[in-house]
Amino acid sequence: MKTKQFGSMHHDIEQAAQILADGGLVAMPTETVYGLGADALCDQAVAKIYEAKGRPSFNPLISHMASSDMARDYVEWTDVAKKLSNAFWPGPMTLVLPAKQDCAISQLARAGLPSVAIRVPSHPVARALLSKLARPVAAPSANPSGRISPTTLDHVLAGLDGRIDAVIDGGPCEMGVESTIISLLDEPVILRPGNIIIEQIQAVLGTGIKTLTDADVITAPGQLTSHYAPNASVRLNATKFKVDEKSLGFGEIVGDLNLSPSADLREATANLFSMLHKLDTRQGTKIAIAPIPNHGLGIAINDRLKRAAAPRN
Ligand code: TXA
Ligand code: MG
Repeated sequence: MKTKQFGSMHHDIEQAAQILADGGLVAMPTETVYGLGADALCDQAVAKIYEAKGRPSFNPLISHMASSDMARDYVEWTDVAKKLSNAFWPGPMTLVLPAKQDCAISQLARAGLPSVAIRVPSHPVARALLSKLARPVAAPSANPSGRISPTTLDHVLAGLDGRIDAVIDGGPCEMGVESTIISLLDEPVILRPGNIIIEQIQAVLGTGIKTLTDADVITAPGQLTSHYAPNASVRLNATKFKVDEKSLGFGEIVGDLNLSPSADLREATANLFSMLHKLDTRQGTKIAIAPIPNHGLGIAINDRLKRAAAPRN
């Protein structure tokens, strides 16, 4: 199939929404990474996502909504959900909530779970598309399963050109790592660190919040150990680089590229995936990466780097 490329004008969004309404796949920009969207209410459409990405079918998808009001049609709403959504939506936070009895979201998108992951993104193009379609859009990151997440149109095309109906160009994603996922099925727990950091969440909740540990991975089906994997092999916490390595620096550790010369974690987060894409030119490349402080946004960066460096499965 030929993958159409849309801009972000009104008539572009209309055509993209029509493709989704007809059961097609559209990659859309969000503030975190590009998502590969399909009508979340349609099993056949959602099946195409798994097929295009080569994604294990037990790994459930996030349903993107135009508003919290739309989200409440599908999930059991709670006081904590209200607090967190007021604080962080639209924005880079995903909530896992119990599905309503009559929840129409595709069982395939939910991977058969009795819960649903939902997010109201803030990117104007994603919002326009969701409002136009007026249905939830299931969307994982728009990359072949297990590879580096896309933060530009070029990244999307490099992985999925010819496998999806269309992609909308929204420029580079502003934030650069995926949303923070919080499960509210029981007491709140962070399933995946992301753009909203733990201190921000605790400030809104007025209490501490647990973070998923590696021992608990079973409850977060998507947290496969090897993920975000470049073609290259990856060495972490490198303070000196070897001649045969491509190097990714941070702060004073200067490499071929530097995530943030001023050691700013927000800048590093925004640059992470695009710099990995740049260094990851061919199979057999070795990439070495400087240490990143493990606080604030550094926790999300280190989570992605650990997966990028993990033994491949
Ligand atoms: O920023 C983001 O979250 C991006 C953009 C496109 O919105 N999306 C994204 O989707 O990162 P994906 O598919 O790469 O990651 C979704 C994660 C997976 O780890 C999956 O296991 C988890 O969400 N998830 C989805 N539904 C869940 C559920 N019911 N319970 C627990 N985890 C769930
Ligand atoms: Mg992903």
